[in-house]
Amino acid sequence: MSDDLKSPARRTLFKAFGAATAAGAAASLLPGCGKSEKGAKENLGFAEIPHTLDDQHHVPEDYRADVLLRWGDPIVAGATPFDPQTLTAAEQERRFGYNNDFIAFMPLNGQAGPGEGERHCKSRNSERGLLCVNHEYTQPHLMFSGYSDEYSATRGVSAAHVAVEQAACGHAIVEIEKTAAGWQPVLDSPYNRRITLNTAMDIVGPAAGDSRLQTAADPSGTRVFGTVGNCAGGKTPWGTVLIAEEGFGGAFQGDPDDIADPIESVNHHTFDIAPDNRNWGDHDRRFDIAVEPHEPNRFGWMVEYDPYDPNSIPRKLTNLGRFEHEGFTLVSKPNQPIVAYGGDDDEHQFVYRYVSREKYRPGDYARNRDLLTEGTLYAGQFNEDGSGRWLPLIFGEGPLTGANGFRNQADVLIDARRAATLLGATPMDRPEDVETNPVNDCTYVMLTKNKKRNAEDLNAANPRPRNVMGHVLEIVPPGAYGRRDHASDTFKWNTFLLGGNPNAENPHERGAYGQQAPGTISAHGWFANPDNVAFDPRGNMWVATDGCESFGFHDGLWAMATEGELRAAPKHFFGCPQGAEVCGPEFTPDGRTLFVAVQHPASGGASTFDNPMHRWPDNDPALPPRPSVLAIYRRDGGEVGS
Ligand code: FEO
Ligand code: CA
Ligand code: CA
Repeated sequence: MSDDLKSPARRTLFKAFGAATAAGAAASLLPGCGKSEKGAKENLGFAEIPHTLDDQHHVPEDYRADVLLRWGDPIVAGATPFDPQTLTAAEQERRFGYNNDFIAFMPLNGQAGPGEGERHCKSRNSERGLLCVNHEYTQPHLMFSGYSDEYSATRGVSAAHVAVEQAACGHAIVEIEKTAAGWQPVLDSPYNRRITLNTAMDIVGPAAGDSRLQTAADPSGTRVFGTVGNCAGGKTPWGTVLIAEEGFGGAFQGDPDDIADPIESVNHHTFDIAPDNRNWGDHDRRFDIAVEPHEPNRFGWMVEYDPYDPNSIPRKLTNLGRFEHEGFTLVSKPNQPIVAYGGDDDEHQFVYRYVSREKYRPGDYARNRDLLTEGTLYAGQFNEDGSGRWLPLIFGEGPLTGANGFRNQADVLIDARRAATLLGATPMDRPEDVETNPVNDCTYVMLTKNKKRNAEDLNAANPRPRNVMGHVLEIVPPGAYGRRDHASDTFKWNTFLLGGNPNAENPHERGAYGQQAPGTISAHGWFANPDNVAFDPRGNMWVATDGCESFGFHDGLWAMATEGELRAAPKHFFGCPQGAEVCGPEFTPDGRTLFVAVQHPASGGASTFDNPMHRWPDNDPALPPRPSVLAIYRRDGGEVGS
């Protein structure tokens, strides 16, 4: 979600679309993670696209981008064509949801069946699979006729519309296959499924059942309905999908100052629960904290589910902490602990790492499925000298005791932000995706922006005051190239890239916002506001942005090498239609298809359902703009980007 949703005026929309900043990527001049500074080869051979801003999406010559799934498209056989004017909650539950974000492509193996996720994943089938897509949040003024602006659709939304919104949030699982005509949904697939705000889920891990998770509807504190604010996520090698709960506070209304328990009051303030948030609580009372003050504690977790078992019950994993989760991505090596990295996407919040207690054993699903419920969460400390430490969030250790209001490990996890602050973790410039390059085995942190960063609170890892452009850090765990020890409690880090325009005419702007890449960056190679990231099979980094419209051009994708002479020298590959950000870049295992999620097209200004900025992707006067997933291919069938 973008920055706009983070501002008090717009948090009612969750954190959805970003305010943009520009980033010309500044490349690190340090040795970095690479094997050597020589030997870089130009393996990103596409013809770069320009910075533009219009009502279209853009890909390079020799590529095509097909619209694969749009908000309202049926995901079951026999459904009628989409009609937003008559959409009901029951209909929405049979259709692709709103504001697509994270995408996981989970291969299907014709020899494996339901519940055999690891066998499916190992097939690396790149022509048939399950597309697993987050639906982060809703925008009623763009979904329904009759709302005059964003605010009227937020505070005055009807009960029927709230029901549709709750059915349009969450997640979708859709089987897709690659045909001669391109990728197509398989509507009669037994795997197709929607997860919504009314899907029953278990709460597992150390905080499950704690008194702070208990409500009138669920005295056990272990069963919750639904997930919301589903931003990015991750995948496990045992075939499950992780989905993050990010801007959940915007789903709740009420005044935290009216909550008697001071720890709970501060907790609710931390997540921007406020009286003028969207009015879901008027119609679904659990979203009013005056009625159910513990319900927000049942959100803000990572959720795991098995897409290969359509009857599987999703689980909220309390061991990964509670905050505004951007996502968690795994480093999984046979017979070593699972390591997962994630970010808390808010100003001055932290980068986290998790290490499982037991080791990952390929093929042993019964043991592997507990790897994310038994282990230790850590917060990152980035020191001035380029070293770093992971600080464990363990009740009873250091400041995490009753003296600071922690009763038990459940409190440490529910109030992970407070725990990490007390431990001395480094406050960052809004950590978004944190993902490991499978080729060089280094980990990259997208820091999207932080306008609240003052000159007085700079640190080496967050070096710019009023950081409107964002930047990217590189974490280098100890060990050899490609075989690093991610479970180590120490690491080195580098600045990989500072967003901004290296050629800005104003030298001050250049100094404040420009990149310092060692290679040549074209006029269209710079960007701002890194958000999601993916790596292609050759180890190139693909950065998705959220906020470039603030600098006059569309959000999109920029690809770059992570080492060698062209380290951190971005090339522009994809551009969104105006008002949109791009999320969830995801390659098929063969690298020949790139899926992207275009979120909140035509958002901003006075754009509404009745009078939208544009009507991408259909350009049909009967249809509003529709968040959509695109499948991008090279026309000759080759690897994307090569
Ligand atoms: Fe939903 Fe952090 O972007
Ligand atoms: Ca975003
Ligand atoms: Ca994001």
